[in-house]
Amino acid sequence: MKILQPRVEHLVEPMGLDVPEPRFSWIVTSDRRADVQTAFQIQVATTQSGTVDLWDSGVVASDQTSQVVYSGRTLSSDQTCWWRVRAWDADDVASDWSDWTAWTTGLMDRSAWSASWIGAPTSIRPVAAAPEGLDLYGIEHQRLPWLRGTYDLGQAVRRARAFVTARGVYELYINGRRVGPDVLTPGWTDYRKRIQYQAYDVTPFLHPGANCIGALLGDGWWSGRIAWQHRFYGEQPSFLLQVHVELEDGTTTVLGTDRTWECAPSDVVWSDMLTGEEQDVAARRDWCSPSADGEAWVPVEVVVPPEAELVGQRAPTVRRLMELEPKSVTETAPGTFLVDLGQNMVGWLRLSVPGEIKGTLTIRHAEMLAGDGSFYTTNYRGAQCVDVYRLDGTAAGPVELEPHFTWRGFRFAEVSGLPPGSPPPQAVGVVLGSDLPRAGTFTCSNPMVSQLQRNIEWGQRGNFLEVPTDCPQRDERLGWMGDAQIFLPTACWNADVAAFFTKWLDDVIDARSPSGAFADVAPVVREELFGEAAPAWGDAGVILPWELYRRYGDVRLLEHCFSSMSGWVAYIDEANPDRLWRQRRNNDYGDWLAVGEDTPREVLSTAYFAHSADLVGRAARVLGLTAEAERHESLFEEVRAAFNDAYVTPSGRIVGNTQTTYLLALAFDLLPEAKRAAAAEALVALITDRRGLGGTFPPNHLATGFLGVGHLLPVLTATGNEDLAYRLLENETYPSWGYSIAQGATTIWERWDGWTEEGGFQNAGMNSFNHYSLGSVGEWLFSTVAGIATEPEDVGFRRLVIRPTPGGSITWARAEHECIRGRVSVAWELTDTEMRVEVVVPTNTTAEVWLPGLSASSLTEGGRPAADVDTLELLGEVEGRTGVRVGGGTYAFVGGRTVTSAQLGGST
Ligand code: BGC
Repeated sequence: MKILQPRVEHLVEPMGLDVPEPRFSWIVTSDRRADVQTAFQIQVATTQSGTVDLWDSGVVASDQTSQVVYSGRTLSSDQTCWWRVRAWDADDVASDWSDWTAWTTGLMDRSAWSASWIGAPTSIRPVAAAPEGLDLYGIEHQRLPWLRGTYDLGQAVRRARAFVTARGVYELYINGRRVGPDVLTPGWTDYRKRIQYQAYDVTPFLHPGANCIGALLGDGWWSGRIAWQHRFYGEQPSFLLQVHVELEDGTTTVLGTDRTWECAPSDVVWSDMLTGEEQDVAARRDWCSPSADGEAWVPVEVVVPPEAELVGQRAPTVRRLMELEPKSVTETAPGTFLVDLGQNMVGWLRLSVPGEIKGTLTIRHAEMLAGDGSFYTTNYRGAQCVDVYRLDGTAAGPVELEPHFTWRGFRFAEVSGLPPGSPPPQAVGVVLGSDLPRAGTFTCSNPMVSQLQRNIEWGQRGNFLEVPTDCPQRDERLGWMGDAQIFLPTACWNADVAAFFTKWLDDVIDARSPSGAFADVAPVVREELFGEAAPAWGDAGVILPWELYRRYGDVRLLEHCFSSMSGWVAYIDEANPDRLWRQRRNNDYGDWLAVGEDTPREVLSTAYFAHSADLVGRAARVLGLTAEAERHESLFEEVRAAFNDAYVTPSGRIVGNTQTTYLLALAFDLLPEAKRAAAAEALVALITDRRGLGGTFPPNHLATGFLGVGHLLPVLTATGNEDLAYRLLENETYPSWGYSIAQGATTIWERWDGWTEEGGFQNAGMNSFNHYSLGSVGEWLFSTVAGIATEPEDVGFRRLVIRPTPGGSITWARAEHECIRGRVSVAWELTDTEMRVEVVVPTNTTAEVWLPGLSASSLTEGGRPAADVDTLELLGEVEGRTGVRVGGGTYAFVGGRTVTSAQLGGST
């Protein structure tokens, strides 16, 4: 048995973690089939391979491999803790210890902060004049300041940790070198309540003698533009830094921002997340080294510290994730070039230009080109997304140009202002996003469906930036709750989102109104409009912790969120004594952006009311809160009964008669058994017979918006209609996923009709080409096409159910997923006579594998009749599938097919 991926609070070697009792996770693997972990031992020490002085768990008989709670000595601030783990296998043989890995604690309480918050006087932040041809929307943008402090260290440094944050966004530099790979730190929270700080090992940056520590400080979410507002949290940015230094002789000292720091105008004329950034390249200079000039520096201002809590970074930060080489660079006018990155992405364009170029380079961005090849930027609305570089032609070598504190969604960039006759500029697309570990891949024989998976991944990559945003381009980019809940299951397949959502759930809780309502968006902006959420948007506050608990087994998170979850249900309950959600529907978005049908809002809302009550009841059971559980269980039954009385006929027809009404009623288990089949039939009839409202599109198409779409294929599958599900998946006519892909989409569009042959572009007021919500179908690719699922009541991938489900035109599919217990994968392939299925089941788990359309007698594994393989247990044939039970390991099944592809999938 071997130990892999040791993690603390879901993170690899985190720094600045201020969780007093962090939790350990790892993965066990074994060459032996069906091996299990029978026991583990964890040791934690203050020095690597030294005495185990913090905690020794002893040998604990358990198969638990995640979230084992630290129960050793109280941890202090800025402490490096080394830990290792070993596990015992099924024969009670101990593995080797994992290598020692470290985490560093944060500043565990407020009193550990001794530095002062500082800012630049506004006199060194002149308001920038709008560059020619660019109005800055009447919004004042100011020059960014450099801040710096100098320190003499008498000796070499043995250990140094920087703890750093800002109200605004910062880049940290020491002796001229940039510290850390993070972008847009300290990230976005509701700064009135909570501000994240980052920690860095800066030992290699400091040296004996004079040292200069500095920062470039931008406005970011704090005082820049967010959505439709400017300076929402504050007027001017400020900065806080504390460096804990241990010198060679063992003495310690703390360096921190204070009134001895000075500041000067930087080379960044203005920078804003939505507008873009302008740099005065000629003003670049050595500003952060002990020998840097002293010109134009003035003392900083010490500012009033915030009341907000300072919290250590506990989710992956935003980083440069990859670089894209352009697909083409074309000169469209003398000195103007069109860069096509071939992929709608999020981040910025980096350019390298010869030093002798003089003048102003302007970069504009667009997701799409209009039919005449011109830039389609109207869908950016009030976000200009323009970068400007002023060059004086005096640089000795090539000049690198990229912004610091802005980003946008784009595929095309137009670079103008180069001297006529210039060669094409060297350009790359720098992709930004929260740096989440990748956790899944899916491909199959239908290239369109494989492209769909790529589009879903790109939608997630770009929109999971600090918070799950709706879109990355227009003046919105908010953490919309409804979008997040519907996409979460898909997100979990593609990436390890445990830490990302743990952080965001704090934002969600911080956004609650005084009456206990969740907000439409988190962090909340414009409370008067979004402060109390709509149905399905607010319910995200209940659905997310529950889903995350099911995926990652995170009980602590459930506990942490429980009172806000039950508070939300109480908020609905109080106002709706007859158990139909009629009052307090606030912005009431309905099945957002459905096409051709309109689900009655009261029906939709009441379905969510029931669902949230149900989930809170389940959560209460997990947490052992019996009274709460009983209360919510009966509330669920009451809402369910009211739903049936008010909206469902005895024959299973639901008021509104839309795809989404049936989908929600079936997905949330709102119908008595007797009505389920009829409702499923009504759903199928609606899809197969419909002509669209007004006869606008053909039968066998979806009509759902954000809320229905996530349940569409899963409910069709659960009710025995996977043939129809496949048909919808593979459609290429409007409205469908395939339609956007046929139009060249490389991300998921906000709307089914973002662009159509008949209508061209939709209303630019709301037409994002990078919105992940309609990508919630990704869940079904993993769980049904590949067939990776878990038993219904399972938590944290202990008991898997592998049910590959071929269908439609698909003749092979492959999926891999890194779950909390290790790697699971399925690869299946149909030939005319056989089905081959390769399955990898993580060590320390069990799986039932149900293979469709092949007989138990023909089944072989690794070339031997399955019945002779003693690591398998044959479970017989049930509903056209042959089942085997296995433990962890790699299995190669081959079976003779008893049915044709058409019978399997129905719709080839
Ligand atoms: C956003 C959505 C969001 C919605 C609320 C839109 O502007 O882009 O994704 O959920 O508003 O209906």
